Amino acid sequence: MKVLLTGGAGYIGSHTCLELLVAGHEVVVIDNFSNSNPIVFDRIESICGRRPTVYQDDVCNSDGVSEVLLAHQIQAVIHFAGLKALGESAEQPLRYYNNNVQGSLSLLSAMKTAKVRILAFSSSATVYGSPNIIPINEDAPTSATNPYGRSKIMVEEILRDLTVADDSLHIALLRYFNPVGAHESGLIGEDPTGIPNNLMPLISQVASGRREVLQIYGDDYPTVDGTGIRDYIHVMDLARGHVAALDWLQERKGVHAFNLGTGQGKSVLEVIQSYETTTGQAVPYQIVGRRLGDVAACYADSSLAERELGWKAQLSVDEMCRDEWNWQNNNPNGYRK
Ligand code: NAD
Ligand code: UD1
Repeated sequence: MKVLLTGGAGYIGSHTCLELLVAGHEVVVIDNFSNSNPIVFDRIESICGRRPTVYQDDVCNSDGVSEVLLAHQIQAVIHFAGLKALGESAEQPLRYYNNNVQGSLSLLSAMKTAKVRILAFSSSATVYGSPNIIPINEDAPTSATNPYGRSKIMVEEILRDLTVADDSLHIALLRYFNPVGAHESGLIGEDPTGIPNNLMPLISQVASGRREVLQIYGDDYPTVDGTGIRDYIHVMDLARGHVAALDWLQERKGVHAFNLGTGQGKSVLEVIQSYETTTGQAVPYQIVGRRLGDVAACYADSSLAERELGWKAQLSVDEMCRDEWNWQNNNPNGYRK
């Protein structure tokens, strides 16, 4: 298939780009490189011997996007492009709504012009807010406490409206849980700018000595050891989930939400222990107060994706830690020299 990836140079986009190329698809990328580095495509080529066609542009440029869709006779789009820092979204809501909501509207207009009907949208488990029942299934109510989460819910709702008005569309809302890890080569991985917020990149920075100590946000949750529980998913499993979703979507009209998680919850202490055991690196930590907005436990009921897409995450937390460390150790400054 000829597939356009918006944001295809980013963390999840680049791993998905690799998997699509390996699976024989033709890949075109549009990215404004606001949070990524085009060097990633050299790395992808050195892994699989192929590279995508790349355009440096913004998804808000609807005319530019439709030209690319038409020029390459694109059949399907995966829409990764977006801003994703939760705290920043509360400080700069306009920037987040412009980029994430306006960017999506602009892409959808371009797709309409070019008559491209297959779309997989990068959504997030954040749309479940503070879940009442875990594991969470796709029918759980959505809610948000910050502009980032709200931007994902808004785009999901917009996509639902579009499929009511146009029954020729094939749309998947892919709700990612906690993507971590890197390709096993250690050539591509997550390259956060500034201070990361998420657990795994912070553990890596502590393990490599770039940071002294990991702060654990609370050990008094009603969980197995008092620390927060999440559904960590290896980014390569997630990438394969996108390939499966695109295959499935070709025959399915309408809008369909899927959780992409492992279905297994791990606590912060369990992840640290796994990291230390698999990498041999010490991860010193201290317990501090809870982080505002955190929930005790969040993990997926991933049975719908397994049943419908024929996809199931395969890689363990040990493998996530191994690959995360391999990437970090080989690229202490990310893609920057
Ligand atoms: P990322 O920041 O690494 O990748 C996003 C890419 O989009 C970057 O290459 C960036 O330069 C590009 N981009 C941003 N705005 C753009 C625009 N207006 N036009 C063109 N390119 C633009 O993030 P990621 O972790 O790969 O996330 C990809 C998607 O998945 C995002 O939509 C994010 O909200 C969603 N998501 C991520 C996570 C996570 O933990 N990483 C979890 C759930 C959902
Ligand atoms: C965070 C975001 C969520 C977003 C997700 C993926 C918050 C409140 N939520 O979720 O909206 O979709 O990232 O990008 O920011 N932890 C520590 N110390 C740290 C960092 C994290 O103990 O320095 C703990 C957290 O309390 C949590 C777990 O590690 O229990 C995972 O945290 P994180 O990686 O930030 O993911 P989420 O909390 O799931």
